Amino acid sequence: MLEPSTDKIRDWGNSVMQLVADYFGELRDRRVYRHMSSQEIRDRLDVALPIKGMHFDELLRVFRETVIPFSRQNAHPRMFGYVQSPGAPLAALGDLLASTLNANLTVWRSAPAPVELERLTINWIRQILGFNAEAGGLFVSGGSMANLAAIAAARQAKDSSSGCLRMYASSETHFSIAKAAALLGIGRQNVRHVAVDEHFRIRVDDLVSQITADLEAGCFPFCVVANAGTVNTGAIDPLAEIREVANRFQLWMHVDGSYGALAVLAKSARELFAGIEQADSIALDPHKWLYLPVDVGCVIYRVPEIARAAFAHEAEYTRIIGEKADEAFAFWDYGPELSRRFRALNVWMLLKGVGLESLSEAIESNLACARYFESMVRASDDFEMIAPVELSIFCFRHVPMQLQSESLQAIDAFNERLLIALQRDGSSYLSNATLGGRFALRGCVLNYRTTLRDMEILLDDLRRVARSLPTSA
Ligand SMILES: Cc1ncc(COP(=O)(O)O)c(C=O)c1O
Repeated sequence: MLEPSTDKIRDWGNSVMQLVADYFGELRDRRVYRHMSSQEIRDRLDVALPIKGMHFDELLRVFRETVIPFSRQNAHPRMFGYVQSPGAPLAALGDLLASTLNANLTVWRSAPAPVELERLTINWIRQILGFNAEAGGLFVSGGSMANLAAIAAARQAKDSSSGCLRMYASSETHFSIAKAAALLGIGRQNVRHVAVDEHFRIRVDDLVSQITADLEAGCFPFCVVANAGTVNTGAIDPLAEIREVANRFQLWMHVDGSYGALAVLAKSARELFAGIEQADSIALDPHKWLYLPVDVGCVIYRVPEIARAAFAHEAEYTRIIGEKADEAFAFWDYGPELSRRFRALNVWMLLKGVGLESLSEAIESNLACARYFESMVRASDDFEMIAPVELSIFCFRHVPMQLQSESLQAIDAFNERLLIALQRDGSSYLSNATLGGRFALRGCVLNYRTTLRDMEILLDDLRRVARSLPTSA
């Protein structure tokens, strides 16, 4: 039914709201994940081309009985895999409202109040990071797109079109940076991987020597990417020192804070981010540490006019006629997209509805959970940490007594099997990383529901599942 009556919309809405409330209410009783196959799911779906429409209650039944149980429950407090935000009930409702209005945030005149909300929330994020008052930016689909937009601006700012461009990032940098370089025609091979120290932070001496060598070889260094929370271990590069190097060699400094930057809100972590406000651009993800559902990433430019030079495109069909500066504002001048959904609504609802005080406490509690896990591992004789905990990521391995005299390869292989068995067990969910060539179990606390008790349950789950595994394949 394309146009249901008002009463019908209300009925449907009530059923949906019941489902949403039940879902959040029953979350802790669910398994994070269940083992499933693609075929099993397809067998449950009616694959015939739908000629006649299905009743709304039936659509909802498919969602309840097939889509929910055959999904990974990202909102579960022991979903520790990847860098996965839980989403928040407030934002689930925000999505409904955003789609109801269906605003298209291209230019101010297309969506006046939504554009004002985006400018307002971007300005709040700017203040949270401590950027200058002129800094600005926009919401994009995620960290990858924010990195792409920032590198495009960097190239615009620095490209003298003479010789081969070179950019620099630590070997721990997320692959979206190399992907951006490839897509922008800079070339993957022109992203130089800089060595890291024992904390997985970029080695500034190696950065300087690579830049110097490239200059001597006639290349054109134009950009350095610093991490504010690497994807593997949460390492934060020395931002102030990198700024100095960028100044010395006239490089654009981009910070990839997709995972970590919003932890600047936590008092115990704030110092680690000193200098972040000096970056030329930063990528960060409200759909990570603002707990929002995908998809909302954010790019902030210190001097937005430079981004404008990279993205502005005058076409007759988009020309804005007869408006003052504020009302002539166009997001398409600052990023790659034209049509854009109302991502700012969820950011606004969360920041305004929850407030920075509670958000800071929630992030602080995530950090405390990771530190608590680290302390339990260090106090145990059957687990070991592989990297220090910087923010909320913890990398470790299980070495039960009977494996302690085995080869490193055997221990790695056992932990790989343990990871798969843990995921299939469903009580807790981890992902993995490779650090120094070794396999690591990796977790990331990014859910305001996660408690210290959940961290204890994770260790219990690992021991329980490990006991059911043979020590060799
Ligand atoms: C450090 C870092 N950068 C970039 C990304 C890419 O972000 P997105 O998945 O939002 O594109 C991630 C994702 O986990 C990340 O951790």
